[in-house]
Formats: sequence, structure tokens, C-alpha cells
Amino acid sequence: MKLFTFRSRRRVVVAAIAVGLVLASGIFADGILAGEMAPVGSAERGRIAFVKHGCWQCHGFEGQGSIATSNGKVIAADPLPFEAFASFVRNSNRSMPPYRETVLSNGDLADIYAFLQSIPATRDYKNIPLLNRQG
Ligand code: HEC
Repeated sequence: MKLFTFRSRRRVVVAAIAVGLVLASGIFADGILAGEMAPVGSAERGRIAFVKHGCWQCHGFEGQGSIATSNGKVIAADPLPFEAFASFVRNSNRSMPPYRETVLSNGDLADIYAFLQSIPATRDYKNIPLLNRQG
């Protein structure tokens, strides 16, 4: 007895291809979505990576920037959107040296970004009593 006729076998093949396409598109969709969002990094590890890679030398330990070293570029608490941030760090051809993937891994970059985001915004001096005492 024949289990599959030619037609039913063809249907099985078509169904298998369809399932394959659906699975593959799922994988691609995940990739696209992951590319659009900032990767999830660890602020704790990022603080270490920020020191290890020397970012602090020009931007200060809290990303506050310095007129002497980084043109005063403040990179915390509200860093550029991740795409722009990563692209600048990787490809800078200005006074900051570029950090290619061979020296700064994508993981470390994501962690540094998370660290910069975790730094609380500077308080407005008007809300600090000591700085508003008269005379
Ligand atoms: C040798 C000094 C130096 C080091 C080290 C350094 N930077 Fe910079 N960075 C600069 C300078 C200078 C600029 C301003 C460049 C310009 O605008 O021409 C800058 C700009 C930036 C900007 C762009 C900010 C903006 O708003 O345009 C980012 C983001 C940044 N740095 C991140 C980093 C990170 C992350 C590290 C460590 C991996 C790092 N930098 C290490 C000097 C440095």
C-alpha cells in the first residue's frame, strides 16, 4: 500500500517550505527589531568599562565632560540615541579617537551606554539652598 500519493507528498513539501519561511521570517524580524532598539546593557558593568576604556580621562567619571579634554562634551545623564552614540564612538574622526570593535566590544559599548543613562541628571542650582543664600 502506498502511504503518500504524488499529490499529497507535494502538499507535504509545500507545507514544509511554508513552515520554514515563517520560521525564517521570525528570525529576521527579531534581528530587525533588535537592531532598532538599544541593546540592554548593565550599568554596573558599564561603570567599570567606562574606566577601563579611558572614557573618564576626557569625559570625567560621571560623563560630565571637561572644557580641557572633551570640548566640554557632556555625555550623561541623557546620552544621544543609541544609534548616534554608537556610531560616534565607533567612527569619530574628530578630536576623539574612534573605538573600533577590536578594542571596545559591543557588549562593553552597551554597558557604557546603560551606565551613562543611569547617571542622575544634574540638579538645577536654583534648587540647592546653599547656592542660593543671599549675603
Ligand atoms: C582623548 C579624549 C577622549 C576620550 C578618551 C574619549 N572621548 Fe568622547 N569625546 C572627546 C571629544 C574631544 C569629543 C567632542 C568631539 C567633537 O565634537 O568634535 C567627544 C565626544 C563624544 C561623544 C559625542 C557627544 C555629543 O553629544 O556629540 C560621545 C558619545 C563620546 N565622546 C563618548 C565617549 C566614550 C563612550 C568614550 C570611551 C569609550 C570616550 N568618549 C572617550 C574626547 C574623548
